[in-house]
Amino acid sequence: MNFSREDSKMLNAELRLIDVTFGYEDGKKLFDRLNVRLRSGQLLLVQGPNGSGKTTLLKLVAGLLKPQSGSILLNGIPAGDAGFSRIGYVMQRAEDQFFCETVFDEIAFSARNFGLDRIAERVKEAVRSVGLTEDVLSKSPFQLSDGEARRVAIACALVHEPLLVLFDEPLIGLDRVGKEIVRKILKEQKGKGKILIVTSHRSGNLSDLADVVLRL
Ligand SMILES: Nc1ncnc2c1ncn2[C@@H]1O[C@H](COP(=O)(O)OP(=O)(O)OP(=O)(O)O)[C@@H](O)[C@H]1O
Ligand SMILES: [Mg+2]
Repeated sequence: MNFSREDSKMLNAELRLIDVTFGYEDGKKLFDRLNVRLRSGQLLLVQGPNGSGKTTLLKLVAGLLKPQSGSILLNGIPAGDAGFSRIGYVMQRAEDQFFCETVFDEIAFSARNFGLDRIAERVKEAVRSVGLTEDVLSKSPFQLSDGEARRVAIACALVHEPLLVLFDEPLIGLDRVGKEIVRKILKEQKGKGKILIVTSHRSGNLSDLADVVLRL
């Protein structure tokens, strides 16, 4: 993936979580008046043990869950609204986000959905950027190894050039090379001026890339 300084200058986004309060109906409160402010090129690392609410926070930012009170705004527009802008979401279990018959269609989906041009070119570029070869494109996304599935999930989340990218435990299931590729991608996306939220249950992992750390 190539990027230039001009790209990051063009992006001037801001994500704000203002007094966000949330708990599932049958559980304890996971967030109580949480405030976070992120600008273009910044990475928020969300750390915490199993069950602390990391995935829940990403679902709130993606607009899949609504806070009981408070607001989540990207450039002033509430999460979940049509104008919230493009986001990419790499789910914790890659298979949860797949629904197409081939890897090509899976990756092409969001690019098509947003009416982008050069679909085949973008898909191939996305596959290369996660260290896979083009022969994966004709496979079923449900027949990939865990490491391949995670890389395809990342390709899906980046192909449409989102402004905000959510990565839920992106290193899990990857070998050393895969982990290095993810680190490189995170750095590149920061350089492009994207806003990133990354969860990790392990402290230390990725903390050198973080601008803000939230410990749950
Ligand atoms: N749909 C749901 N309904 C009710 N409770 C839920 C739901 N989803 C998650 N929870 C509960 O909310 C808490 C936080 O879950 P969450 O998945 O956000 O944790 P996490 O920090 O991502 O954990 P992990 O490290 O295991 O991925 C857990 O106690 C979980 O059981
Ligand atoms: Mg989780």
